[in-house]
Amino acid sequence: MYLDFLSKFGVGGAHPGGLDLTQEILKNEKISESSRILDVGCGTGQTAAYLADRYGASIIGMDINPIMIDKAKKRIKQCQLPVEIIQGSIENCPLPDGQFDLILSESVLAFADKPRSLHEIFRLLKQGGRFVANELTINQQLNSTYTEEIQQFYGLDSVFTEKDWLSLLEKTGFTDIKTSIQKPSMLENNPSPEFQFSEHIEPHLYMIPDQHLYMMTKYRNILDYRVFSCTKE
Ligand SMILES: C[S@@+](CC[C@H](N)C(=O)[O-])C[C@H]1O[C@@H](n2cnc3c(N)ncnc32)[C@H](O)[C@@H]1O
Repeated sequence: MYLDFLSKFGVGGAHPGGLDLTQEILKNEKISESSRILDVGCGTGQTAAYLADRYGASIIGMDINPIMIDKAKKRIKQCQLPVEIIQGSIENCPLPDGQFDLILSESVLAFADKPRSLHEIFRLLKQGGRFVANELTINQQLNSTYTEEIQQFYGLDSVFTEKDWLSLLEKTGFTDIKTSIQKPSMLENNPSPEFQFSEHIEPHLYMIPDQHLYMMTKYRNILDYRVFSCTKE
């Protein structure tokens, strides 16, 4: 339901820190016109468009949700940028091995099967390729009641601590793994998003922003996010 809300409202920059944090993170990566970059779970394509515009790199944006795909394609057409938008799941990606210099996931893997998705990301990267992720992270283990409430509202199969993410990245084969904890917290770091509304929006979806705020407030010291970066050596 939460992802239905994001797609029907066409929320752009639907990750903590928004495009500002994306720009900050990308400054640490070596990106040139010859870079091939995949934006996994690209949503409405805000980051993919930025990458093409700022770096002139070759970009593919991929998302599982057909509404997101339509909205991303519309954005790319309007901006006249050379970005390819494709529909697919990062759990079983329709692209060949070893072709990307950089793969980015901004608030996506939290919603997917994490081991399968990371395995695919590793497969898709070139030798020496980089993976950068901004992902939902809990600051402490929770009891089952709280875990279920979070998983149920956001539609997640699990919620990871920083240690869980690091251990899975390592198990997948990544090296040079770095984490950065962003301040301010998830609740405070929510720059105004942009919207691309669908024509028909189911009435119950209008309640999601309030429920999201409730969750952010209730779990304000617990629901957080981390930026991870690592290499396929
Ligand atoms: C919170 S939104 C973030 C969208 C975008 N990265 C952004 O920052 O605006 C999560 C996105 O992940 C997509 N997604 C969820 N599971 C996916 C999967 N298995 N493969 C590809 N995309 C997925 C959703 O459709 C949604 O667009």
